[in-house]
Amino acid sequence: MSEAVAGAVAERFTQLYGSEPEGVWAAPGRVNLIGEHTDYNDGFVMPFALPHTAVAAVSRREDGVLRLHSADIGADVVELRVADLAPQSDRSWTAYPSGVVWALREAGHEVTGADVHLASTVPSGAGLSSSAALEVVIALALNDLFSLGLRGWQLARLCQRAENVYVGAPVGIMDQTAAACCEAGHALFLDTRDLSQRQIPFDLAAEGMRLLVVDTQVKHSHSEGEYGKRRAGCEKGAALLGVDALRDVPYADLDAALERLGDEEEVRRLVRHVVTEDERVERVVALLESGDTRAIGPVLVEGHASLRDDFRISCPELDLVVDTALASGALGARMTGGGFGGSAIVLAEESDVPAITKSVEEAFAAAGFTAPRVFEAVPSAGARRVR
Ligand code: GLA
Repeated sequence: MSEAVAGAVAERFTQLYGSEPEGVWAAPGRVNLIGEHTDYNDGFVMPFALPHTAVAAVSRREDGVLRLHSADIGADVVELRVADLAPQSDRSWTAYPSGVVWALREAGHEVTGADVHLASTVPSGAGLSSSAALEVVIALALNDLFSLGLRGWQLARLCQRAENVYVGAPVGIMDQTAAACCEAGHALFLDTRDLSQRQIPFDLAAEGMRLLVVDTQVKHSHSEGEYGKRRAGCEKGAALLGVDALRDVPYADLDAALERLGDEEEVRRLVRHVVTEDERVERVVALLESGDTRAIGPVLVEGHASLRDDFRISCPELDLVVDTALASGALGARMTGGGFGGSAIVLAEESDVPAITKSVEEAFAAAGFTAPRVFEAVPSAGARRVR
């Protein structure tokens, strides 16, 4: 994110509120390399940060007032009282920043109000965590301004609480942790049980490869209930197997576990996805750490098949990206994020990128789908103060 962007956001803040902001912060969207629907099963994930960010210019207030404005929505300044904030199952944009203020205050942190102006370049509804970017940028700004001393993973937990309880979306911890903790040039290997993490060097350009994000333009929504249903099914599986979370089913014991689930066909499929997906994350980490980057391609493809056939959260557009990219020489491809639309990722040799992009665009046109948005994703920085 450039100095010019930070300057423009600060300037708009000054126009709106009549004085300069105390600071400007940025938090990124993410793509997940591997480890899908494992985070609410205490499992492993491996996201990295996009260059696209939510940017917030913020000043403290001491009079209990929270004023919010978004460049992307274009509406008037919204004024709220921090003491009145309460969970509302509201998915309008103000619920994300106000939910974070609520979560901080509920955890005992003295946040006495703020003026906020937000602008985001993270595409919304594209499965790239625009909401988490919004939450984390506010949490980091308030952490700095009110000297709360919270670490990245602690901010992530509070943001997840804001989204679960205040906004009412039953998401896991991956997106908020990615926004808060990712580092440029790295993917984040995260154990969602205790939030222990390892930064894994992931510099594809240095090895002559590229990672494309293909936004299918099919808007996904966690609120539609399918996400919640998968989550409930996984919890049922854990209960039937007598474990705290599916993370506790060792890959080596998968067949025995599936047998024990008997004719619970739906639960069996969910369990099989989660247990194999955790194993795939570990395999990808091992391959990257041994320098065998190209070999992660087939693992990504396995992950897609598992999400499509066992977890059943893909859609024709995502499958078309994956099939077309692979047929045009991609090293690997899979859907990324919550599913039911959103984006896919494609791992490819640099020289194959133009042909793959063209094939995917042509395949979408031939199928009568809305044209996809294709861009290259370079692992970028996590949340930070930019001014
Ligand atoms: C969404 C959620 C995450 C995670 C993914 C699926 O992005 O916000 O917590 O569950 O779906 O991996």
